[in-house]
Amino acid sequence: MRTVSWDETHQQVKMIDQRLLPGEFQEVSFTNYDQVAEAIQTMVVRGAPAIGASAAFGMALAAQISSASEVPEMQADLAAAAQVLQAARPTAVNLAWAIERMLGVANDPGIDDVRALQAAMLDMAQRIADEDVEINKRMAAHGAGIMRENEVVIHHCNTGALATVDWGTALGVIRMAHEQGKNPHVLVDETRPRLQGARLTAWELEQYGVSYEIITDNAAGYFLSSGKVDRVLVGADRAAANGDVANKIGTYMLALAAKDNQVPFFAVVPTSTVDLEIPEGKLIPIEERNQDEVLGIEVKGEQVAPKGAEARNPAFDITPNRLITGIVTENGVVYPPFEVNLRQAVIGSQN
Ligand code: MRU
Repeated sequence: MRTVSWDETHQQVKMIDQRLLPGEFQEVSFTNYDQVAEAIQTMVVRGAPAIGASAAFGMALAAQISSASEVPEMQADLAAAAQVLQAARPTAVNLAWAIERMLGVANDPGIDDVRALQAAMLDMAQRIADEDVEINKRMAAHGAGIMRENEVVIHHCNTGALATVDWGTALGVIRMAHEQGKNPHVLVDETRPRLQGARLTAWELEQYGVSYEIITDNAAGYFLSSGKVDRVLVGADRAAANGDVANKIGTYMLALAAKDNQVPFFAVVPTSTVDLEIPEGKLIPIEERNQDEVLGIEVKGEQVAPKGAEARNPAFDITPNRLITGIVTENGVVYPPFEVNLRQAVIGSQN
């Protein structure tokens, strides 16, 4: 089951509606790229690689529905679609990465006919999606390779099949370790404010039969100081060239507590999430989402916060490279100095 895919019969983009999980499993379909951009913005689909693949299918859809009869006209439609999709969420670089690959096809001088361009756009979107699954499995094998038996792992947000096209990044490593019989136990950060951990990660771990317990985000420091946690595993929405990573809000505090207790902290990051153009994490744009996500928490049907309360809601934070033990990529596990070694891992994947 893929998080996002192309519906061949109806020529539509299909997604699992992640807002409804774990209560309801429902797929939704989109017939134009504006709807795909809105689905990314409203988090029908979320997670950096899944956002990238969704944007790629959104671009393929833009080509299918374009009424252009000449290539330059279709290229103009595709440039407009790229702008709309690119604006959906700012932090995950996979969005720009996938759109750039799609624009490479759109502007291929060797394609001189609109039908051929439509087919080539769809081919590239499928390729991006298929590659994502293959890359995740390679990363998972590298990551599981450094895990010992019976490890207790703290995991933040959702980085599983739902955050990618399939399989997952950090959660993919845990899943692989489980399949290898290493019996990991996961302490699942619930991940305020949208609760991707309690809702989505727990739901996935149930399906895989991995042992887990949900913890509140602010309990992580307590567990890390107990001496009973072996590792922290997280994903990333963007890694800077120096190995600083932007990931779900709360990751930075987790990394600080891990460092203070000498617990290894690993980010699992496909090279499509590494932005070599950005030298350090503080230059990564951080999305600030609507304050209703924070204020909307209700108990017994009543909003917890007083009426009229204001809130801040940054969706991501930056974990500096000095707090990171290693970065797992599809090309292997990268250790400091990240300034040198991360670039090498990325360039390796381009050769
Ligand atoms: O706001 P979200 O749910 O899209 O945030 C997702 C994360 O922070 C993940 O950790 C990240 O995308 C990497 S997982 C593949």
